Amino acid sequence: MHYYFEGHDTVSLAEDFGTPLYVISEERIERAVKTIKDAFSAAGLDISVYYAGKAFTNRAMCRIVENCGIGLDTVSGGELFTALSTGFPAEKVICHGSVKTPDEIEMAIKSGVHCIAINSPAEIPVIDSAAAGLGKTANVALRVSPGVDPHTHEYITTGTLDTKFGLMPEELIPAAKAVQEAKHLNFTGLHCHIGSQIMDDEPFILALSIMLEHVKELHEAGITVNELNMGGGFGIPYLPDEKEFDMYGYAARFSRTLDGLCTKYSIPIPKIAVEPGRYIIGPAGITIYTVCAVKDIPGVRRYISVDGGLNDNPRPALYQSRYNAVIANKYGDDLPTDEARISGRSCETDTLISSIMLPEAEIGDIMVFEDTGAYCYSMAGNYNRLGIPKIVLLHGDEAQVIKREQTAEDIASFDEMPVWLEK
Ligand code: LLP
Repeated sequence: MHYYFEGHDTVSLAEDFGTPLYVISEERIERAVKTIKDAFSAAGLDISVYYAGKAFTNRAMCRIVENCGIGLDTVSGGELFTALSTGFPAEKVICHGSVKTPDEIEMAIKSGVHCIAINSPAEIPVIDSAAAGLGKTANVALRVSPGVDPHTHEYITTGTLDTKFGLMPEELIPAAKAVQEAKHLNFTGLHCHIGSQIMDDEPFILALSIMLEHVKELHEAGITVNELNMGGGFGIPYLPDEKEFDMYGYAARFSRTLDGLCTKYSIPIPKIAVEPGRYIIGPAGITIYTVCAVKDIPGVRRYISVDGGLNDNPRPALYQSRYNAVIANKYGDDLPTDEARISGRSCETDTLISSIMLPEAEIGDIMVFEDTGAYCYSMAGNYNRLGIPKIVLLHGDEAQVIKREQTAEDIASFDEMPVWLEK
C-alpha cells in the first residue's frame, strides 16, 4: 500500500515532481480557518482572523488566505511586498516586527495597512514623522508584553516580561497618550502574542484577563480600545499520540471570560482578533523525501538518511521539534518494524527524528514527514549550497507547482566575482 495525503498518492507525487518536495493541501488550510471561525461563532463571537504569514508565505498562499476571507499578519517588507504583489487588500494586513526599517514603514503607510503594531515607545515618533512626510495618517496598535509564561519551548516564548517584543505594562498608558497626541497616528487597539505551539488554553485565558485590565486602564484614561488582538500560538499535534488543541472549548471559555470581565470592568467589548499561523498551515503540509542511505550499526542503531533535512526543516535542530514519518511505499503493509534514526543530508549531525519504529528501509524508498506546513519552508536555508525544495499545491485532484526548486545554478547566480579575482 501507499501513503495518501488528501486523496493523492505520495509515491506518485514523488515520481511526478521529484524529491525533496513540500506538498500543501488547500482544503486543509480552508478547513483549519473554518474551525477557528466556527468555534468562535458557536461561542457567540464574530472575530477577525489574520493568518501569520511567517509560518509559510508565498504568492499562492496569499491568494488562498484572501479567498478564505481572512487577513494577513506580515513581519517584514518581503512578506508585505509578496502580499501586495498578489493584490491582497492592504486594509486586511497587520505589520509586525520588533524592527521596522524606514522602507518597510513607508511601504506599510503608503499601502494603507489595517495597522502597524508598535513594540516600543521609540517607534511612535518615527512612524508619526514618516506618516507626516507622506501626508498620511498611519493606523497603529500597541503591542504589550502580558508577562505570561506559555509553557512552550523557551525559543518560541514571546509574551514574558524579559523579551524584545512589546511594551512593558507600565509603558502602555504614556505610549497610548503619545499616540493620541501624535498628529499623524490613529490608535486602533492593543495586541499581544504569548508564544507558539501552546496546547493548553490556560495561558491564553490568563493573557486575555491581563489584556482586559489594560483595556480598562485605558478606558479610565479616556482612550478606547476598538480592537484587541490576542496574537497566534495555537498548537498542533505532531505525533500520533498527541491531542488536538480544543478550539471549541477554548472559544467558549474565551467568550465567557471576555463577557464576564467586560461587564465587571464596565467597558465595551472590543472587537477580538487572532493571528494563527501554525494551526492553519502546519497540518496542511507534508515533506516528501527519498531514502538515500541506510546504515546499520549492529547493537547500536539503524540510520536512515534522506535527500533533505536541515535545509528544508531546521526545526528539529533549533527547537528539538518532533515529527512523525512513514515510508510511503510500504505504508500499512503490516511489515515488521524496527527502531531507526532519520537523518538529513547536511554535513552536520542533522537528526530529523531521533527514534522511530519503521519497516526496513531501502535506498529509493519514499519517506513522508507529516505536519511540516509551518515554519519549515519559511525557515529553510542554503547550507551546503543545497537548494530549497519545490512546493506543490493540492486542490481537489489537481497538483500544481507554486514555487519551483532552487537549483545549484540559481544559488551560484547570486555570487559576484570581484575584478581582481577574475580569470
Ligand atoms: N503573531 C505574532 C505577533 C507572532 O510573533 C507569531 C509567531 C504569530 C502570530 C503566529 O504564531 P503561531 O500561531 O504560528 O504559533 N519558528 C518557530 C515559531 C516562531 C513563532 C514566531 N511568532 C517554530 O518553528 O516553532
